Amino acid sequence: MPRLYPAVPAATPAVCGAPRAHGRVRGVPTLLIVHHTPSPHCQALFEAVVSGATTPEIEGVRVIRRAALSATAADVLEADGYLLGTPANLGYMSGALKHFFDQIYYPCLDETRGRPFGYYVHGGNDVTGAVRAIEAVTTGLGWRRAADAVTVTGEPGKAGTQACWELGATVAAGLMPGA
Ligand SMILES: Cc1cc2nc3c(=O)[nH]c(=O)nc-3n(C[C@H](O)[C@H](O)[C@H](O)COP(=O)(O)O)c2cc1C
Repeated sequence: MPRLYPAVPAATPAVCGAPRAHGRVRGVPTLLIVHHTPSPHCQALFEAVVSGATTPEIEGVRVIRRAALSATAADVLEADGYLLGTPANLGYMSGALKHFFDQIYYPCLDETRGRPFGYYVHGGNDVTGAVRAIEAVTTGLGWRRAADAVTVTGEPGKAGTQACWELGATVAAGLMPGA
């Protein structure tokens, strides 16, 4: 019997930045991390999310990460759940994440309803507007929040990175086969 799709060992969570995956890997749930990461503090949170999502206890989940300015509707359609990360900018989500949503909203509206997601926001002192904006657009898409939002201002510290680690682990664990 010829193999119709690539086998991915269940115990090996793959983290892919590039090259792009081509098509859904049948039977392997995929978590797409879409992030805008313009500073070391944002990078620390992003790395914590990736670390949580790929912790060895989570088996059989493929993790793809994409910068918000390069993520496509195809990436979204091919994934089963989403993690979003952004700084707060001018009382809103970053322009990069807004651009991502602008691009994918209608192409993904019908097919991604009900899928789980989580998000983190980093800011200087007030992330309220960014949180409101992300809640609004994900409500419009009909995505289901699978973990509490993580918001961090200033230096992330251990509590901030731990919260992001747990965010990544929680959303990824929800995609595990049989979860
Ligand atoms: C143009 C601009 C607008 C910003 N607007 C906000 C804002 O509305 N609320 C906020 O909490 N932080 C705001 N910030 C701070 C960023 O969120 C912060 O710089 C980013 O999360 C990276 O964190 P860091 O500078 O501590 O590394 C803004 C930063 C810039 C450059």
